[in-house]
Amino acid sequence: FKLKEGVKMKNNIKTFIESKGKSKLSVLTAYDYSTAKIIDQSGVNGILVGDSLGMVCLGYKDTLSVTVDDMIHHGKAVVRGVENALVIIDMPFMSYEVSIKDALVNAGRIIKETGAQALKLEGGLDIVDTVRALVKAKIPVMGHLGLTPQSVNVFGGFKVQGKDAKDAQNIIDSALALEEAGAFAIVLECVPSKLAKIITEKLSIPTIGIGGGSDCDGQVLVWQDSVGLFSDFTPKFVKKYAEVGKIMTEAFVTYDKEVKDGSFPEEKHCFTIKED
Ligand code: KIV
Repeated sequence: FKLKEGVKMKNNIKTFIESKGKSKLSVLTAYDYSTAKIIDQSGVNGILVGDSLGMVCLGYKDTLSVTVDDMIHHGKAVVRGVENALVIIDMPFMSYEVSIKDALVNAGRIIKETGAQALKLEGGLDIVDTVRALVKAKIPVMGHLGLTPQSVNVFGGFKVQGKDAKDAQNIIDSALALEEAGAFAIVLECVPSKLAKIITEKLSIPTIGIGGGSDCDGQVLVWQDSVGLFSDFTPKFVKKYAEVGKIMTEAFVTYDKEVKDGSFPEEKHCFTIKED
């Protein structure tokens, strides 16, 4: 898929904010050059180099082991493949909690070394001062509320958040505080649709849902989930747009068979040398 000649749809944080109430935003994760390029050329507005990297690419059971260097390594590859989408990179666990100074140093490294346009941080009222400091340093920040996977051990698992009034109010207050601190968008993960709708209506910046229902201003999915490539578990909010895992298995089984029975490689895959 190639964008039509002359079509210009460069996304940035301004186009994200301006889209609110006008058009929905599509975001997918990516962690490498080839996938980022395909996603970018499909017209998707944003590419998130999520720390879900730890689970879907590196095989960890959660995102906590992911490092700033991991995010830079994969972020650089993604940026090389992208022309139009806004590239956002996750700040990994413990890269922004110790002090605002640490957060600035790590955020500066990620932006400088990858060339991405924005960062995403998990958390609400507890990280508002950090978000304000990053925005002041001219680093655009996307917030992330609800099921924030870096807090998995505090939540006691990957569970829906904001189900009672107190918890829901805390998420609303956090969203308002993040907007006030300068965030340009907020991911709402695994929260009741009614709560996501209330937050979406209260904010003037876009909400990007993942298990947040259809009233969010946009949606994000982990790309492997969206095409059936990650089979360890499938959350309820995932829609599989393809069965790429099955297609790959069929291809690899056929490859294995053809290598073993000698039908691959054929003449056309081989190189020749002059008889003399
Ligand atoms: O790490 C990630 O991929 C994310 C998305 C699921 C929003 O944070």
